[in-house]
Amino acid sequence: MMKKTVLITGASSGFGRLTARKFQQEGWNVIATMRSPEKETELNALSNVLVTRLDVTDSTTIQQAIQEGLKEFGSIDALINNAGFGAIGYLEEASEEDVKKQMDTNFTGVVNTIREVLPQMRRQNSGTIVNVTSLAGSVGMPMLSLYNASKFAVEGLSESLKFELEQFGIDVKTVAPGAFKTGFGNAMSFAEGNKKADLDTQRERFKENFEAILAKPPKPFGYGNPQDVADLIYRCTTSKTPNKNLVGKDAKMTMRMRRLMSKRSFANMLKNAVMPK
Ligand SMILES: NC(=O)c1ccc[n+]([C@@H]2O[C@H](COP(=O)([O-])OP(=O)(O)OC[C@H]3O[C@@H](n4cnc5c(N)ncnc54)[C@H](OP(=O)(O)O)[C@@H]3O)[C@@H](O)[C@H]2O)c1
Repeated sequence: MMKKTVLITGASSGFGRLTARKFQQEGWNVIATMRSPEKETELNALSNVLVTRLDVTDSTTIQQAIQEGLKEFGSIDALINNAGFGAIGYLEEASEEDVKKQMDTNFTGVVNTIREVLPQMRRQNSGTIVNVTSLAGSVGMPMLSLYNASKFAVEGLSESLKFELEQFGIDVKTVAPGAFKTGFGNAMSFAEGNKKADLDTQRERFKENFEAILAKPPKPFGYGNPQDVADLIYRCTTSKTPNKNLVGKDAKMTMRMRRLMSKRSFANMLKNAVMPK
C-alpha cells in the first residue's frame, strides 16, 4: 500500500514536533512545516520527512509548502492545523494589530490552510483534517478573551465544515488540550499594544499573579504529557473517533464540573484560579 502523507503546521515545537515524530514512526510521509525551517536539526534527519517553511499568516508560504509536499510525496491524506499561540490581557488594551495577530494565526491561518489543501483532498476523495483547539475553545476563561475567541471560532468552523466535506470523503475533527508543558507558556504574549494608564494597577497586579501561576504546575491536575496529545492526533487521523476530542485530565474534569456545578460556583472556580485575590 502507498504510504500516506500528513501536513503539520507549527512542527518546530511542542505538540507539532511530537506529532511529526509520531506519524513518521508509524510509517507516514510527513510534511513538517514551520516558520523557520533553517533552525531545524532533528526532523530533517528522519526518513520520509520533508521540513519546509509555512507561516500560517502568509498564504504564499501555505501554497508553496503544499506544492513542495505534493511534489515530494504525491498526496496529502491528513492536515494537522496545530500552529497557534495565546494572547492574554485586558481586551481594552489590545491594539488592532494584537487582535489581528491572534485571529490571523489561530483562526484565519486554519481557514487558509484548509482551503489550500481541500482541492487535493477532493481529488483524492479522502482526507482527515485535525484542528488543534483547546479547552479554551469551549470554556471562557479570565483574561483570555482573544485566545478564547480564536479557539471557539475554530471549534465552530470545524463543527460546520464536516457537513460540506463529508460528501468528498473528508472528515474534520478537533483535539482540545487542557494544560501541557510545551513552548506554549513562554510563547504567550500580553496583548497590550494599546496600554491604558488607568489600567496600570490592575494590569501589573494581574501580570505578577500570572507569572506566579505560570511558574508552578497548574492546580489541581498539573500538566499532562504532551505525547498524549500527539498520540490522540494520530488516533483521530487513523481511527474512528468522535469529532471533538478533549485531552488531559484537567480538560475532561473541567467539562464535567461545568455540567455538575452551579454556574456561579463554576465561574468562581475559574476566577479564583486566575484573577489576583
Ligand atoms: N500547551 C498547552 O497547554 C495547550 C493547550 C491547549 C491548546 N494548545 C494549542 O496547541 C497548539 C500547539 O501549541 P504548543 O502547546 O505545542 O505550543 P508551542 O510549543 O509554543 O508550539 C506552537 C507552534 O506554533 C507555531 N506558530 C506560531 N505562530 C505561527 C505562525 N504564524 N505560522 C506557523 N507556525 C506558527 C510555533 O512556531 P515558532 O517556533 O516559529 O514560534 C510553534 O511551532 C496551539 O494551537 C495551542 O493553542 C496548547
